[in-house]
Amino acid sequence: MKITLTQEKGPKISKYIYGHFAEHLGRCIYEGLYVGEDSTIPNINGMRTDVVEALKNIQIPVLRWPGGCFADEYHWKDGIGLKENRKKIVNTHWGGVTENNHFGTHEFFELIKQLGCEAYINGNVGSGTVQEMQEWVEYMTMGGESPMANLRRENGQEEPWKVAFFGVGNESWGCGGNMRPDYYADEYRRYQTYVRQYGQEKIYKIACGPNIDDYHWMDRVMAIAAPFMDGISLHHYALTGAWEDKGPATNFEEAHWWSLIKSAQKMDELITKHSTIMDKYDPEKRVGLIVDEWGSWLAVEPGTNPGFLYQQNTIRDAMVAAVTLNIFHKHAERVHMANIAQTVNVLQSMILTEGSQMVKTPSYHVFDLYKVHQDAELVASYGDSAEPLSYTVSQKDGIVSVSLCNYALTEEQTVEVDGILGDIIKEARYITAEKMDDYNDFDHPETIVIKEFEGASLRDGRLTVPLPPMSVATIQIA
Ligand code: AHR
Repeated sequence: MKITLTQEKGPKISKYIYGHFAEHLGRCIYEGLYVGEDSTIPNINGMRTDVVEALKNIQIPVLRWPGGCFADEYHWKDGIGLKENRKKIVNTHWGGVTENNHFGTHEFFELIKQLGCEAYINGNVGSGTVQEMQEWVEYMTMGGESPMANLRRENGQEEPWKVAFFGVGNESWGCGGNMRPDYYADEYRRYQTYVRQYGQEKIYKIACGPNIDDYHWMDRVMAIAAPFMDGISLHHYALTGAWEDKGPATNFEEAHWWSLIKSAQKMDELITKHSTIMDKYDPEKRVGLIVDEWGSWLAVEPGTNPGFLYQQNTIRDAMVAAVTLNIFHKHAERVHMANIAQTVNVLQSMILTEGSQMVKTPSYHVFDLYKVHQDAELVASYGDSAEPLSYTVSQKDGIVSVSLCNYALTEEQTVEVDGILGDIIKEARYITAEKMDDYNDFDHPETIVIKEFEGASLRDGRLTVPLPPMSVATIQIA
């Protein structure tokens, strides 16, 4: 395949496209991120040190919390104050297990501080009141004297925190209240009124957008509420087939390699069509499309709680990650943030844990290889064929970064990139696998790891890369 760079200046790829999502679901928060101060697993203030360090390495820019469906049943006051006094509730969406609320607002901001990233809080519209939402925002962000700021101080936090992003409801068309779009749009206008800005920091307000290809929802919510929002969400998960019949995460058939990747590629069409609707109401592209749930949704690992959504992660998921990130880059003008679901132990995770053990998934390694694109400028290009290759070229601080994903199962592809401004290959790294369902587990944590890529060459502005099948590479040129 031949890629030609046009040297046209492209949009900035927001670093928030590399965002993550952590819900009170299965072992994502408890065990995955938070083990408590008394755990024998190394932790700082209850947060797993190994997981925090691994996430810092991929430069996690933002974390969405507390859900997901859980957000619309979450009452934040249950999760503040002395832990032993916190209310125990039932996590009705996810396995019906007891939620002891030991991880609440203070713990979330401790995690954010350790990660060095921004907070994306998702508020409760489905079963919460306007007052409850208003008070949560006041509790988190009010610096001066006020009832909620004083309550925060009583609970040990003097200074307000920064809430960079705030979601007004989650999946309000489904688990968040089964609303119709016009009704939700009016509710959005009302609730967001009380998401006040108490300090200097502006809160970026996100309306609940459509599920997959519900273009009617997008049209109505934009028509009614666009001037009141900064962003609107979109959810799309990659599936191997029907929603009711999710294919296995490992030991799958070749057909499911292709169907999962095809489902991930649908993101391109979805963003294009939703953006066209958004353009009607927001031609300046002020409102961001926030893809705050995406990734592979596969069958749970045999023997695990079906409500915990714990799935393995293979080189196929790495292809899904690379293909999807490349799509987000292409639409960087409209896609202001994305949050892969979910950070640890749930769906397409970055990290899996078992007791004190931790393993990085192939998807984690894609986020590592791709972190060079965070806040870089997209370099415009055209290619002479589309499949089975997906790519991004960006530049930042005088360095050109070329990321390539060859999702063919058996054929190597020689990729030529013409028009490279730079003389030397500074770094070339990649991941690949021998089998289409290769993965890392606790006994074999390094089946798939990032390796140096030896085969790339650069001459007269042309980069030539013989790219093995089932691989993702990033080559940086200075
Ligand atoms: O990520 C798992 C669930 O998927 C979320 O809770 C919900 O928003 C979506 O349906």
